[in-house]
Amino acid sequence: MTSDPDTGSLQSAPAKRGAGQGGCVPRHVAIIMDGNGRWAKARGLPRTEGHRHGLEALRGAIRHARERGIGYVTVYSFSSENWSRPPTEVSFLMGLLRRFVQRDLSELHQANIRVRIIGSREGLEPGIRGLLDESEALTRGNTGMTLIVAFNYGARDEIVRAMRQLAQDVAAGRLDPDALAEGDVTAALDTSDIPDPDLIIRTSGEQRLSNFLLWQAAYAEFYFSPVLWPDFDAAAFDAALDAFAARERRFGAVSATGG
Ligand code: FPP
Repeated sequence: MTSDPDTGSLQSAPAKRGAGQGGCVPRHVAIIMDGNGRWAKARGLPRTEGHRHGLEALRGAIRHARERGIGYVTVYSFSSENWSRPPTEVSFLMGLLRRFVQRDLSELHQANIRVRIIGSREGLEPGIRGLLDESEALTRGNTGMTLIVAFNYGARDEIVRAMRQLAQDVAAGRLDPDALAEGDVTAALDTSDIPDPDLIIRTSGEQRLSNFLLWQAAYAEFYFSPVLWPDFDAAAFDAALDAFAARERRFGAVSATGG
């Protein structure tokens, strides 16, 4: 484990990359793991095989992120819109999550990885809900990399839930509406104590955000990889990190060189 992020300071600078890597490592990388279906179709396999290989790619990406010293990795594993997929595919994805927790949780825990889940727990089957709770409870004290799994997640839904909470705070007199600040919204989101993503990667050549981390992505760099998610290996991950290291982030200000 090369990373021990200080969760107290959300604005600290990204780490330097390891020996021979050069440039800055993003503190938080968020990934839209896209292209499982096309990967399977290209091989004449059912879509579910694409997801199965997608889980393997996820394991590799977690390993690689740890090696590179990335503090936070968020993965979009099931969106609130994914319920509209065929029931067999939805139930396969639920089974995959179950398998991921049952097979990988103790290993993640041993590796000092903290697991966080973002998204709505409402309406989830109690068994799945229990596994999500268990993953967070077991790894709560871990201080290495944080793996954030976006499950039953939609950014608009997250923002609506946050607004509902803030409206309740105003109604109860706990919050003065005139004093409402960006920080209040940030604190009401599922990601309240997680720094914003520095880099958002989407695989498979698609170039859109698909209701992922809309508030948190305000200053993120985007990297669109042509690689289908099941093929997203260490080299593809490093290509994204190299592209990030070459970017100049200005956060609305002018360039350090005056450009
Ligand atoms: C998008 O590909 C992928 C998903 C909707 C599911 C992502 C799930 C995994 C990578 C499995 C592992 C994750 C966990 C934590 C269980 P797509 O099906 O939309 O691909 P397509 O655009 O080519 O059809």
